[in-house]
Amino acid sequence: MLSLRPTTMDDLVDLAAWEAEPETAPWLGETGPAWHARALHDPGQEHLVAVRAEAAVGFAVLAGLRDGDAVELRRMVISPPHRRTGLGRSLLTSVLARAYGHHRARRVWLDVKAHNHRARALYESEGFTVTETLTGAVTEADGALTDLVIMAHQVR
Ligand SMILES: CC(C)(COP(=O)(O)OP(=O)(O)OC[C@H]1O[C@@H](n2cnc3c(N)ncnc32)[C@H](O)[C@@H]1OP(=O)(O)O)[C@@H](O)C(=O)NCCC(=O)NCCS
Repeated sequence: MLSLRPTTMDDLVDLAAWEAEPETAPWLGETGPAWHARALHDPGQEHLVAVRAEAAVGFAVLAGLRDGDAVELRRMVISPPHRRTGLGRSLLTSVLARAYGHHRARRVWLDVKAHNHRARALYESEGFTVTETLTGAVTEADGALTDLVIMAHQVR
């Protein structure tokens, strides 16, 4: 059973370590404690830690909470040792419920690197569809250009 709680500054060391892991960092934009601290202090964002059996196993950040009825799922990560056990799906369904219930969203959207097949498979299986592809939108550290896919989910 997975639950959500507000992230605190004390969580940020763990969260930043998960992001820095080599199977995770390539899929994210800016990372590190400063990015999270800005999210924590922004009233338009909600930073949530996923908890199972009293242990933090992942996090998610919702954004655009003051911009109308479309909420952005800006980031979700499951801690590397906890992957492939269904927690990613539980976290996604929990944050969708939070967006539609607590935040009264009508639509949830996100962007994902086009070749992030793990995340895309999860999003698609939970009802997200591709609305746009931004060709070459991200410049990687080695100068390569990566496409970004915009996906959206509507309240049912
Ligand atoms: C994407 C992520 C959240 C999935 O978390 P997870 O706990 O491993 O996911 P689950 O075990 O709940 O699996 C859910 C679905 O994701 C997909 N998936 C997960 N891992 C996969 C893999 N290695 N290969 C292919 N599909 C995969 C599958 O569709 C899976 O459903 P299935 O088990 O019915 O096949 C996790 O891999 C992660 O944190 N990745 C790094 C950060 C990231 O890419 N975040 C998204 C972009 S911001």
